[in-house]
Amino acid sequence: MDLREKFVKYFEEQDHVYLPSAPVIPENDPTVLFNTAGMQPLVPYLKGEKHPLGKRLVNYQKCIRLTDLDLVGDSTHHTFFEMLGNWSLGDYFKEKSIKYSFDFLTRILKIDPNYLAVSIFKGNDFVFKDIESEKEWLKQGIKKERIVYLGEEDNWWPNMESYGPCGPDTEIFYWRSKDEVPINFDPYDSRWVEIWNNVFMEYNHNENGTYTELKSKNVDTGMGYERMVTILEGLEDNYKSSVFKNIIAEICKISNLNYDDPKYTKSMRIIADHIRTAVFIIADDSLIKPSNTDQGYILRRLIRRAIRYANILNIDINSDWDIKLANIVIDQYCPYYEELSRNASVVQEVLINEKVKFNRTLEKGLREWNKIIGQLSDNKINKDIAFKLYDTYGFPIELTIELAYEHGFKVDEKGFYDKFKEHQLISKVGAKQKFQGGLSSTSDVNIKYHTATHLLNAALKKVLDSSVHQRGSNINEERMRFDFSWHQKVTEEQLKQIEKLVNEYIQAKIPIIKKEMSKEEALKLGAEAMFYKQYADTVSVYQIGDISMELCGGPHVTNTSELGTFKIIKEEASSSGVRRIKAILK
Ligand code: SER
Repeated sequence: MDLREKFVKYFEEQDHVYLPSAPVIPENDPTVLFNTAGMQPLVPYLKGEKHPLGKRLVNYQKCIRLTDLDLVGDSTHHTFFEMLGNWSLGDYFKEKSIKYSFDFLTRILKIDPNYLAVSIFKGNDFVFKDIESEKEWLKQGIKKERIVYLGEEDNWWPNMESYGPCGPDTEIFYWRSKDEVPINFDPYDSRWVEIWNNVFMEYNHNENGTYTELKSKNVDTGMGYERMVTILEGLEDNYKSSVFKNIIAEICKISNLNYDDPKYTKSMRIIADHIRTAVFIIADDSLIKPSNTDQGYILRRLIRRAIRYANILNIDINSDWDIKLANIVIDQYCPYYEELSRNASVVQEVLINEKVKFNRTLEKGLREWNKIIGQLSDNKINKDIAFKLYDTYGFPIELTIELAYEHGFKVDEKGFYDKFKEHQLISKVGAKQKFQGGLSSTSDVNIKYHTATHLLNAALKKVLDSSVHQRGSNINEERMRFDFSWHQKVTEEQLKQIEKLVNEYIQAKIPIIKKEMSKEEALKLGAEAMFYKQYADTVSVYQIGDISMELCGGPHVTNTSELGTFKIIKEEASSSGVRRIKAILK
C-alpha cells in the first residue's frame, strides 16, 4: 500500500475524515500564490469556523514552496511536494496527537523507535515550556536523551512574523545515516532529518502584533511525502526514490547520460523537479497559463529553466522530451489527482507553446547578452540591463542571474525588482510575501468580492445561458477576476445587462445563508458546483435567496447590501472557450 493510503487509512481508523486535496492555486486568497502547507486551506476552520466534515481530518495536499527554488538541485529540495497531514479542530490535543504519530511511525511504518528523536518548545515570554509533550513522548518510550527543548526559531509554527493561527510544535526526527545512531540527539546534526511536525495551534497572531487564544485548541500536523518515501526505501537521495525514479530514468534515456555522473546530477534534478511542478500548476483547475504575473510568471520561469537545463544536457529541446516527461508525471500521479489526466492535453499544449515562445526569444536574448557583456566596463549587470533582458527578451531574472554567475558577473537584483514593481508587473498586494508564500488573511474586502463572484455567476447564467459555468476566479484588494465557459465575446449590451442585474441583487438586500449537506443532496438541489472540482462528501452550500446556490467553502458577507456598487471594467478571452471578466466594487 502506498504511504498516502496507509496514512489516510490509519487516521480514518482513528475517526478522522478524509479531505481531498485543495487546488494548488488557492481559491479566493490573494495573499499567497500557492498552497504552501496542508493547513492553509483550513485557516478559517482553525480560527473557529465549523468544518462540514467534522473535527478530525486527514489528507495529502499538493503544495508548492518557492522559498526553496534556489536549493533545487540538491538531493532533498523540491518546488512541488505533497504533505500528509492530520488535524484536530478543537478535539484532541497534545497527548493523542503524539500518541497517533508514534503509533503510525512505529507500528504501521515499522520504524525502529531507536531511530527517532524529538524537539519540543522551550517556552517564551507568553507561552510556558511544553512539559505535556515531553511527558507524552516519554510515555511512548522516547528516551530522555532523545528529547531537546528549542526556542521560537525552531519550534514555533509558522514563525513569529506571520499572522494568523500559530503555536508551539513538537518535531520528530529520524536518523538517516549508515553511521551508528548516537545516544544523544543533536538537532543540528544533519543526519537527523525532520520527518513530521505536530503544531499545537492555540493562538492567533493578530495584525496589531498581539497574540490571542483561538476559539479552540487545534492540532495541525505535516509530514513531507517525498522525504518519508525516501526514508522508507532506505535511500538518501529523494530523486532515487520511487517518487522520481521513472522521471529521472526518462531524462537519462533522452539525454543518453548517467544520473550518477556528478556533471549531470544537478541538471537532471532541476529538470525533473520543474517539469513535475509545471504539470501540477497547469493541470490545477484554475488553468493557469505562462504569463508575466503571479502564478503564470512562476510557471513560465519553471518551464524556461527546465528548457535551459535540458539544453545544458544537450537534449534536443525541439524534440518532445518535455511532453514525454510530463506524461510520466501524469501517469504516475493521476490515480491520486484525477485533474492531471483530465487536463493532460492542456498540459501538453501549454508546454509546447511556451517552448516555441522561449526559443524565439532565447536566441535573440543570448545574442543581446553576448553584446552586453562585451561592452561592460565592470562585472556588474545593472537594473536597466536586467530589466531590458526581462522585458524585451523574456529572460526571467533567474536566468540572467545564472548566466551572470557562470560568467562571474553580479546582478543588481534588488534594483531589478524595484523596476519590476514600478512597471506593475506584479499586483500590488504583498508581492514579496506572495512570492515567498505566507499564510492567508482574508480581509473584509476579499470577502465582499468573493460574494460578488457568486452574484456575477448567477447573472451570467441569466443573461447569457444557464450552461455557463465558473472556470476560475481570483480576487485581490482592488478587483475580482472571474473566468467562465463561453465561446464568444460578451457584447457591450450583455455586459450592461449583467452589471445591472448584479447591482439589482445587491440593492435587494438579500441575506446569505450557509447550509451543510451531503454532496449528493447539494447536487440534487441543483447547487452550482465549480466544474470539475473535487469535493468532500459533506459540503457547505451558500444560498443567496433564489438567485444563487453554490457549493463553496466561504467565507461570505451576510447580506448582499454590504457590497456597494458593482462595475465591470473589462471582458476578454482567457483561453479557448473561456472568457474573463474583471470587475470592481465601489
Ligand atoms: N503546518 C505545519 C507545517 O507545514 C504542519 O502541518 O509544517
